[in-house]
Amino acid sequence: MLKICRTIEKLAPSNVTCTLTGESGTGKEVLAKALHRLSPRANHRMVAINCAAVPENLMESELFGYEKGAFTGANKRTLGKVETAHEGTLFLDEIGDMPLALQAKLLRFLQERKIERVGGREEIPVDVRVVCATNKNLKEMVKEGTFREDLFYRICEMEIHIPPLRERYGDKLLLARHFLRMYTEQNNTNVVSFSPEAVEAIETYDWPGNIREMENRVKRAVVMADDKMVSSLDLGIAPTGESLNINLRQVRQNAERAAILRALTMTESNISATAKLLGVTRPTLYDLLKKYNIQVPGGAQE
Ligand SMILES: Nc1ncnc2c1ncn2[C@@H]1O[C@H](COP(=O)(O)OP(=O)(O)OP(=O)(O)O)[C@@H](O)[C@H]1O
Ligand SMILES: [Mg+2]
Repeated sequence: MLKICRTIEKLAPSNVTCTLTGESGTGKEVLAKALHRLSPRANHRMVAINCAAVPENLMESELFGYEKGAFTGANKRTLGKVETAHEGTLFLDEIGDMPLALQAKLLRFLQERKIERVGGREEIPVDVRVVCATNKNLKEMVKEGTFREDLFYRICEMEIHIPPLRERYGDKLLLARHFLRMYTEQNNTNVVSFSPEAVEAIETYDWPGNIREMENRVKRAVVMADDKMVSSLDLGIAPTGESLNINLRQVRQNAERAAILRALTMTESNISATAKLLGVTRPTLYDLLKKYNIQVPGGAQE
């Protein structure tokens, strides 16, 4: 994540078109806003459009605006999101949900940097920095033919992938404590910390909804907690039964055992070769086989 933050800082001052990818709730919008805030465009607007939420038939006028009389009900000239973002940042959220017909029009805009309002004849130059986000796999969509390849390359001048929370070691508790502090202040409660089993639950839970899920759970737990400590019950996370095993001796032993088994498989249980792979002497290997109770199939071959 620190590397991602440095990347964002480097990209922000440029006009490079960035696409943020990652599961739902990983913080794509947070980083898109950071790209804008750290850019020379920060004093202008960041205009967002959620491509998944706008009906296909309204998308074009939503993006590019329309002239008076362009269609029934168009009783005054209306600017689209692109034009409103002039000199600022245009954030195309859920770009993977943009209908194919619109993809072509968006591509044209990205190439020409000019828009035409619906029902208009003029070409209007617009200066925007484009940032996109999606939780879809655009490369797969290109293969399936549901996302234009040329548009893909246009918007992914730089792709920034945000890993899911379950892979962000160290971030889970850090963020949980951040939200705890935030919501205790907001709610003026006595809650001060997570109970030890809540800490364990936070570390072992998979967080399919990522940071958004964590924020919601902590927010609710702060309100629901009966005493000073938030329990795993308050968080609504059932104890998994598999406990967090980070006792170092145990971790080392598990790793050693796994390495030996792997080396044995690779050498088809040849003892000399296994010892060499593991970087130990044969007598040491015999000791280890005994220690970990590993049976060498067909007896140890020299
Ligand atoms: N690093 C962070 N620190 C604090 N809060 C964060 C962080 N990242 C994300 N959040 C919070 O988590 C929630 C989800 O973030 P965000 O809306 O940016 O996710 P997203 O990737 O755009 O999700 P979706 O794909 O569902 O739109 C927001 O409430 C946001 O404030
Ligand atoms: Mg989002």
